[in-house]
Amino acid sequence: MAEAQHCFSIDIRLAIGCPLVSHSAGESLMTTNLKGLVLSGGRGTRLRPLTHTAAKQLVPVANRPILFHVLDNLKNAGVTDVGIVISPETGNAIKETVGDGSSWGMSIEYITQSEPLGLAHAVKVAQPYLGSDSFVMYLGDNLIGSGIRNYREKFEAAAAPASILLKEVDNPSNFGIAEIDQHKRVIRLVEKPKEPKSNLALVGIYFFTSAIHKAISKISPSWRGELEITDAIQMLLNDGAEVLSDQVESWWLDTGKKDDLLTANTVVLDEWVKRQIDGEIDSKSHVTGRVRLGKGSRVVNSTVRGPVVIGDNVFVENSFVGPFTSIGAGCRIVSSVLEHCVLLENARIDHVDRLEDSLIGKNSAVVKEQKNHQAYRLMIGDDSEVLL
Ligand code: TTP
Repeated sequence: MAEAQHCFSIDIRLAIGCPLVSHSAGESLMTTNLKGLVLSGGRGTRLRPLTHTAAKQLVPVANRPILFHVLDNLKNAGVTDVGIVISPETGNAIKETVGDGSSWGMSIEYITQSEPLGLAHAVKVAQPYLGSDSFVMYLGDNLIGSGIRNYREKFEAAAAPASILLKEVDNPSNFGIAEIDQHKRVIRLVEKPKEPKSNLALVGIYFFTSAIHKAISKISPSWRGELEITDAIQMLLNDGAEVLSDQVESWWLDTGKKDDLLTANTVVLDEWVKRQIDGEIDSKSHVTGRVRLGKGSRVVNSTVRGPVVIGDNVFVENSFVGPFTSIGAGCRIVSSVLEHCVLLENARIDHVDRLEDSLIGKNSAVVKEQKNHQAYRLMIGDDSEVLL
């Protein structure tokens, strides 16, 4: 497992377009020890039912947990001391999957937040770990298509106590929005404004000095009962501090919802997957384009058209697997057509004419019965959605 993670970590750096640097990660002009704080607690209500049984940050994008992509990006920015905030419910799964960070050449510590009381609350809980160090706070369910090394260097060269990453969005009323001046200094932050004065949304990546702790100590819970990081940043501004910003030019995706997750899967597959066939393809099959076929997997009398990633020990027979599909280890696809789907481990798709834009949880089965029943017969977990 550890070895596999390491390989992936190198691959994904190429994939997500981080600058290829001639020095090794961690060694550069950067002089301070900037810590990383990855927020991987939370409720994950928008991604139910998957989050009833699994951490949102472990849901795979291109067959790798979102959190791995986040850690790659931190590592590539030279951040090697990382605290991961976890919840009591899903913390153990995250610990088991990520380990002590040695696969990334990082030192990882886990910080339990007993309840998801907000992003600023998570920072408060992590304060003993962070001490007086500056840090980059990274939401564990956010992906961006570029590295963050440049942003880190700019933050460290400036004297400001905070710098936030922003991205232009079409629907600013759905986001936390920053108003900035011509020098990219933040003037004001507004949560989901009805009449937005800017279209710059806060991406879930923030740089802070230890000044943020004092600001957090001065804020109160919002109407939703959470200590909001936007309120803490606004507190810095109210106290006369300078808050800088940078705009992310590449894509940014918050994977918190099904459609966003499918989009993230599409984008990452498009940019990252290279053809690599470790499994078997029989003579009646056509596997074209950028397809990654894992060890022990077999494609029989089927067509697979990339970009597609298929994990280990997957069986595909009499089927068509179309572009932008990720199939987790141990899945079984028989006499079916699917495209633009994410299948988690050990899912089974059997005699389904066409499955599109779908996210199928672990050990689930989608089966069309051959007995010509007039009715659908379903067993669906809590908070599931079935569009017939
Ligand atoms: P959100 O997506 O804002 O919140 P959530 O995870 O509770 O999801 P939902 O809205 O679907 O219920 O959280 C962003 C990231 O921060 C995510 O990785 C979870 C993490 N987080 C914490 O670690 N602690 C917290 O108190 C909160 C609110 C979020």
